[in-house]
Amino acid sequence: MDYVHGYSPREALRLTDQANTLVELLHHDTLYPTGSVVLEAGCGVGAQTITLAKNSPQAQIVSVDLSPASVSAARALIEREDISNVTFHVGDIFALPFEPERFDHIFVCFVLEHLPNPCEALRCLKLYLKPGGSITVIEGDHGSAYFHPDSQAARQAIQCLIDLQANLGGNSLIGRQLFPLLQEARFKEIVVSPRMVYVDASKPVLVEGFTKNTFTAMVEGVRGQALAKGMIDPETWDKGISDLYRTAARDGTFCYTFFKGVAIK
Ligand SMILES: C[S@@+](CC[C@H](N)C(=O)[O-])C[C@H]1O[C@@H](n2cnc3c(N)ncnc32)[C@H](O)[C@@H]1O
Repeated sequence: MDYVHGYSPREALRLTDQANTLVELLHHDTLYPTGSVVLEAGCGVGAQTITLAKNSPQAQIVSVDLSPASVSAARALIEREDISNVTFHVGDIFALPFEPERFDHIFVCFVLEHLPNPCEALRCLKLYLKPGGSITVIEGDHGSAYFHPDSQAARQAIQCLIDLQANLGGNSLIGRQLFPLLQEARFKEIVVSPRMVYVDASKPVLVEGFTKNTFTAMVEGVRGQALAKGMIDPETWDKGISDLYRTAARDGTFCYTFFKGVAIK
């Protein structure tokens, strides 16, 4: 799969930083009942799997990803944490190796933004959900990033990531579209809640974990691709990244909004 963030060790670390920093904001209400079977589609290196498994120790989590290397990393992580309620499979959301209506719940996080056909993905996943079962979808929206001090160069660098992801068929502005996508896939009782991250110097964990190690690291990761495609000149790029780090200073602030949608089949 051509995937804008790639599968490097640094990206694996970034996904883990992102997940650890956002656990409370995104997952305080991700809880599955005893005995339920939950499909995690696109589990990556297991960054969210840990929280799913720990938050719902009496549920069975079945985690799937297209990338065998990511599934191996996720499996190793879960074993290291001594968690026993997760099983892993390599598989494609569009052709999963499960019988229809096998799952009580489905969880998808930061996956639809990389797919050219997110609605089709939701429709495929729906086949594996029991009637009355729930789907939870979490996505970001890079258009929701604003910060102080503001910087034209930083906004240009972010735009490079948005454009690169779009060139690969993805959509990093997908958060705002969760409601219509779930509607189009004919889910019911759709509730989308915006989850805003606001960072200032009084929240040092978020300054490190979110502004620097999640968001800026993510933009920084596409430097080579942005320059190779001539989307931006190196000076503007470097200033943009340095201005993003500048928002993590004592007098800086950073805002970003994730969207969490929950709906019923
Ligand atoms: C940004 S990562 C997110 C991983 C994890 N959900 C998280 O939040 O840390 C996106 C993952 O989706 C996986 N993916 C993309 N298309 C897929 C597909 N068609 N079927 C299964 N997994 C897919 C990729 O391999 C990648 O591991």
